[in-house]
Amino acid sequence: MCGIVGYVGDRAALDVVVQGLRRMEYRGYDSAGVALVADGALVVRRRAGKLGNLVAALEEEPTPASTTGIGHTRWATHGAPNDRNAHPHTDERGRVAVVHNGIIENFARLRAELEARGRTLSSDTDTEVVAHLLAEALPVSGGDLAEAMRAVCLRLEGAFTLVATVADDPDVVVGARRNSPLVVGRGDGENFLASDVSAFIAHTREAVELGQDQVVELRREGIAVTHFDGTPAAVRSYHVDWDASAAEKGGYAWFMQKEIAEQPRALADTLLGRVDESGRLSLDEMRLSDDELREIDKIVVIACGTAYHAGLVAKYAIEHWTRIPCEVELASEFRYRDPILDRQTLVVAVSQSGETMDLLMALRHAREQGSRVLAICNTNGSTIPRESDAVLYTHAGPEVAVASTKGFLTQLVACYLVALYLGQVRGTKWGDEVTAVVRDLAAMPEKVEKVLEAMEPVRELARSLVDARSVLFLGRHVGYPVALEGALKLKELAYIHAEGFAAGELKHGPIALIEDGLPVIVVAPSPRGRSLLHDKVVSNIQEVRARGARTIVIAEEGDEAVVPYADHLVRVPASPVLLQPLLTTVPLQEFACELAAAKGFDVDQPRNLAKSVTVE
Ligand code: F6R
Repeated sequence: MCGIVGYVGDRAALDVVVQGLRRMEYRGYDSAGVALVADGALVVRRRAGKLGNLVAALEEEPTPASTTGIGHTRWATHGAPNDRNAHPHTDERGRVAVVHNGIIENFARLRAELEARGRTLSSDTDTEVVAHLLAEALPVSGGDLAEAMRAVCLRLEGAFTLVATVADDPDVVVGARRNSPLVVGRGDGENFLASDVSAFIAHTREAVELGQDQVVELRREGIAVTHFDGTPAAVRSYHVDWDASAAEKGGYAWFMQKEIAEQPRALADTLLGRVDESGRLSLDEMRLSDDELREIDKIVVIACGTAYHAGLVAKYAIEHWTRIPCEVELASEFRYRDPILDRQTLVVAVSQSGETMDLLMALRHAREQGSRVLAICNTNGSTIPRESDAVLYTHAGPEVAVASTKGFLTQLVACYLVALYLGQVRGTKWGDEVTAVVRDLAAMPEKVEKVLEAMEPVRELARSLVDARSVLFLGRHVGYPVALEGALKLKELAYIHAEGFAAGELKHGPIALIEDGLPVIVVAPSPRGRSLLHDKVVSNIQEVRARGARTIVIAEEGDEAVVPYADHLVRVPASPVLLQPLLTTVPLQEFACELAAAKGFDVDQPRNLAKSVTVE
């Protein structure tokens, strides 16, 4: 939530910062702003709305040359998304500028103190107090911005990444981090700060993780990292192994389309190197020993939004392949109900970004109760895997569109791998069959490719439904989480009322919603092996159609039983039942993406949302 960029070097800081903000815009797009140090003064420009508004303002009123700057793209928490509340914020004299991601929980008290000392604050944000406190902590002229930042951070409560610059030291940018992400990019004679590496990947792939409660001083010639108490901190550097082109649209109109299309590769990459020559899984990288895995007597999957739907699918796979009881819970609910946890409970925290605050708080609670936490995450070095006991990375590559697609499919693969590996290590009856399932899994990228090749009719259908006011999604077994995911995608992208139901629940209430012409999308299970389940879904399709629904059925190739009851039929290749969500989700992603585009909405940046949700 909120994207932050900072730069010190020899280039035009404005270009570097605006380019970085363009990459950070997925984190929030309520407003954008920059502050540059030029000729011993700060030049600040900020505008409500998307980055394009700021760029237009900068063209109208150009800024003086500068090689030091900071920038921000905002997802509003405190204060309406207008010009006045846009970051950067400054003190009254315009000496210090600061941008912020997170929430300063004690800001009201700090603001009252500042006002009592005669300061005038001009925004409704929690951030502005920091600019005033920094200005107060510096001597009248000169002074050490990093030292001032450390002193101010000790007074702040909540979650924050702060980046600041000061008029009278033109060669320094200072950053601080507690609970929200901040990475340093190390260049040659220049250094960068950003919420994530995509902001500076075009300039350098050498990154440094900033730890919890640390301050970094960024100068042209190097960086100095200290803890909030001023003691030097050891830093961990890493090389980013994807390049700028991975974050470009590559000819697609939207990042979401590109990311949907990348799913076969993302799945293959997530499987890569995790199966040995004999076809058995090798997941030592998780950092959980076989003994630890044998001790587990309960698994709890925690996640939010789309990742929660991956968790719901995981429950079917985990319980089936390991016979270990598994619960799935929304991370935002988890710690408030006093869950029963102990050392034998494995908590699996699923997150694309690795920064979701609800999940971070939930995993901390689980660890406090003595449970081991395994993170399934797509973002190397992010907070959630860093704070977990073990981690299994998905290899989806950067996901820029706010709505998660390849993130979700790779989360499913990672969950399957964990379940199968547990089966293998514990020697359950399924343990012996791991090799066969792994072979099925290895065939999935190609099958997803086949689904993608047949998507034009789905897009056409989506375009024909631009005036739909409501769409229902039905599924049973692993088709139920897929139905929930399809509904979520449609809501968030096309702003259409959409609900996912377990098909068997229809008769307990939701069937009253069915009326003439209502589009109902049904995820049909495989007719093979589980014919009872399949028969029940065929009955459910008939029930809604008899009441006037327009049925759109996603069914396996060769499933003829659904044909008489489907107004529209979408075929997916045959696959083992538990792996089916990897295929049936894809048409629902395409459907929502195309419908939103046909309505003229911004597919990559739906209203009110942000990619990385770093507030609770
Ligand atoms: C919806 C979507 C969100 C995220 C959720 C969790 O398309 O993307 O629901 O899945 O905010 O995000 P991560 O996986 O980053 O923890």
